[in-house]
Amino acid sequence: MNLLLVGGGGREHTLAWKINQSPLCDKLFIAPGNAGTAQFGTNVSIGMNNFAGLADFCLANTIDMLIVGPEEPLVKGIYNFFKDNPATAHIQVIGPSKEASQLEGSKAFAKAFMQRHNIPTAAYKEFDAANYEAGIDYIRKHTLPIVLKADGLAAGKGVLICTNHIEALAEFQLMIHHSKFGEASKRVVIEEFLYGIEVSVFVLTDGINYVVLPEAKDYKRIGIGETGPNTGGMGAVSPVPFVDAAYMEIVTKTIIEPTINGLQKEALEYKGFVFIGLINVNGQPFVIEYNCRLGDPETEVIIPRVENDIIEILAATAQQRLNEITIVTSKQIAVTVMAVSGGYPNEYETGKIISGLADTKLEGTIVFHAGTKQAGNDVLTAGGRVIAVTSLGDSIAEAAEQSNYMLEQIYFDGMYYREDIGFEFR
Ligand code: AMP
Ligand code: GLY
Repeated sequence: MNLLLVGGGGREHTLAWKINQSPLCDKLFIAPGNAGTAQFGTNVSIGMNNFAGLADFCLANTIDMLIVGPEEPLVKGIYNFFKDNPATAHIQVIGPSKEASQLEGSKAFAKAFMQRHNIPTAAYKEFDAANYEAGIDYIRKHTLPIVLKADGLAAGKGVLICTNHIEALAEFQLMIHHSKFGEASKRVVIEEFLYGIEVSVFVLTDGINYVVLPEAKDYKRIGIGETGPNTGGMGAVSPVPFVDAAYMEIVTKTIIEPTINGLQKEALEYKGFVFIGLINVNGQPFVIEYNCRLGDPETEVIIPRVENDIIEILAATAQQRLNEITIVTSKQIAVTVMAVSGGYPNEYETGKIISGLADTKLEGTIVFHAGTKQAGNDVLTAGGRVIAVTSLGDSIAEAAEQSNYMLEQIYFDGMYYREDIGFEFR
C-alpha cells in the first residue's frame, strides 16, 4: 500500500517509524513531516489544511490510505473532502468526519453528546453573547474552582481554572466579549472542577467496532513537579500504574461503549482514533475531554508498546473489520521525555543546530523528532517541542532514567527537558 501521513510532529514521526516496520507498506509520504519522518519516507511540502493539494498528491502518487495526525484538518473536514469527491472517495481515510470531529472541535457539542448518552462528565452549562448575563449569574453562584472552556479549538490553551469569582468573571468577559481565544471563545462552557488523577485512554474505532490501545498519562506543565504554565506536553508514561483490568472494565462499560454506540446512533461517521481524557474521581472515571486523534506526546509511548502491524489495524479500521483485530501490547513500560526550546511555552527561537543525534543508538531507546527540520547536513530546531526520547524498560524509573541519559547526549542552544517525568510513580 502507498500511504500519506498528514502532520509533522513527534506523533507523526512515531507513526512513520511504526508504519515503516510493516511489510504492507510500499511507499510512505509525510506532509509536511520533519527531519525525523524523512528517515522512513518522503516528506512533501504540502500544508495539512491544503486539502486540494493533498488530494492532487494522492491521485498523482496512487495513495491508498490517508492517515491524519492533527485535529485541525479533521475539524475542518478533510474526511468529507476526500469522501465527497468521486475521484478520491476510494482512498481510505483514517480520521473522523467533520461532524464527528466536533467531539474535539466543540466542547459544547461534546458535553451535550455525553449528556445524551449518559457518559459521566463534570456538570456544566454553556453560554455565549445571547445569554451572557445568565453566565455571570451562573459564575457568581458556582463553587470554586470554576473551569472555563473556550468552545472551539484553541491550541490547548482554551481551558482556564479560576480559583476565585472575580477572576472567573473577568476571564468570562474577555472570552465572550473580547475574543480572548478568537472565534473559539464566542461560546464558553463553564463546568465543575473535578479532583482526581488524570489518564488518557485511546480507542480506535471503525464506527461500529473498536479496539482499546494502551493508556497513557502526559505531563502538561513546563516545570518540575507539574508546576508552571501549560505546554503541549513535556513527557508521558504508559502504562499508568493505577489502571488495572477492573478499572478498564468500568471505563469500557461507562465510557467507551456508550461513546461508540452514541456515534453510531447519531450516524456520526468515525474511522479513527478517539482520545478520551479521563479524571479518576474515587475510582470512578469522568470524561474531561474528547480528542479526535492520537495525543502528542502520548503517541510516543503508546505506539511503541503496540506489537501489531499498524497498517493491518488501520486497513481493518477503514474496512470496518476491527472485530477481526486483537491488540497485542508489550508488557514493557514506556517513558518519553520531551526536549523543548528555551522560553517555550512562551516566546522561543528556532533554527538552532541540534548535535549528538548521530550518536543516539541505545538498546530500548528511540529518538523521535517533534519540531525539527533538515538543512543540508544539519538538523535544526523548528518548533517549541523539539525532540521526544522514548525508552522502554521494566519500570518507570528505569525507562525515565534511560531517556534522560539519552538526552544528555543531545544538545541545542536553550534546550530544556523535565528530568522528573513519571515522578509520582517512581
Ligand atoms: P483540556 O484542554 O480539555 O484537556 O483541559 C486541559 C486540562 O484542564 C485538563 O487536562 C485538566 O488537567 C484540566 N481540566 C479540564 N477540565 C477540568 C475539570 N472539569 N476539572 C478539573 N480539571 C480540569
Ligand atoms: N498531549 C495532549 C494532546 O495531544 O492533546
